[in-house]
Amino acid sequence: MLKTQIAIDPEARCSNKLDYHYYGPNDNIYDTMYEAFESGEPVIIDGHTVDGIDMDYYSNLPEWYTDKNAWVKPWYLSDLKREPMPASTKDMGLDGEEFLKRHRKDQKHWDAFFDQCFPKYTVNARMLSHRYNQLVQNNLHLDLPDEEHTGNDHQIRMFLNLDRKKPRILAFSYSVEQYFRLYYDEKSLDQLDKTNYHSFIKELRDRCIWNEDKWDQFHLPRHYITFPPGSMWFFNAQWISHQIIFGNKLQCYEADIEVDSLQFPELGVPNRIAQL
Ligand SMILES: [Fe+2]
Repeated sequence: MLKTQIAIDPEARCSNKLDYHYYGPNDNIYDTMYEAFESGEPVIIDGHTVDGIDMDYYSNLPEWYTDKNAWVKPWYLSDLKREPMPASTKDMGLDGEEFLKRHRKDQKHWDAFFDQCFPKYTVNARMLSHRYNQLVQNNLHLDLPDEEHTGNDHQIRMFLNLDRKKPRILAFSYSVEQYFRLYYDEKSLDQLDKTNYHSFIKELRDRCIWNEDKWDQFHLPRHYITFPPGSMWFFNAQWISHQIIFGNKLQCYEADIEVDSLQFPELGVPNRIAQL
C-alpha cells in the first residue's frame, strides 16, 4: 500500500507544528472519526476505498493542462448536465454522456460511504465534484464561507486522489487561531469583529497571508503532505491555511452537516472565533 508522507517545517513558530489524524488500512474509519473531523485538522485515510468507484476509468482518462495553469471551476452535476457541457470537458476529449453517468453513480457511492463514516450527522446537502486540470503552486489561502453558509451548517469536503501516476501535494501553514496569536500585535488583529465569522476570516487572511509582502508565497512556514493515488483526506479549509502544490484528477465530496448534529459543537468555526 502506498502511504501518505508528511514533511514538517521546523520553522513553524507553534508548540504543535502540525496536528493531524492518520487512519491506516487496519484502522476502523466507520463511525469513529467525529472528533478528528470536527477538530478541523487534516485527517488522512490510507488503504480504504469508496466502494463502487472505478479508479481504472478515471486513471485512463487523459490528463488535462490549462493555459497558464489556470484554476477551473470544479464540475458539479449541474455543470455536467448542462447543454452544451463545459468547454473544459471538450478540451479533454471526454465522452460527456459516459462521464455524467459515472458522476451520478459515484455520488451514490460517496453518499453510502459518508453515511457509514458519519451516521450521527444530519445532512442538508450533498454534492460531488470533479477537479481534473493539473494545478501547480496556487496561493496559500483560507477558504471563505460563502454567503449561503450562515453558520447553521458545517461543511465537510472529502477528497480522493484519482491520479494513479502522481501524488497530490498540499502545503499547510498556520490555523486561524495560530495567526491570531502570532500576529495579534503586528497586524492589529484586535480590530477584527469576532461576531462575524465571514469578515473575520477574510480580514485575517488579507492581513496575515494575502498582504503586500506576499506572505502567501514567500514568508509563512509550510508543512507538506504528499497523498498517493487512492488516498483520501479532509480538513477544515476555513480554519487551516493551505495551498495546492501539485495535483491532477481529484474527486471532492461535499456535505453540509447541521450544526446541531455535531458531536463537539464547541469546535465549530464561529464558536472558536468567538472564543479567541
Ligand atoms: Fe482552499
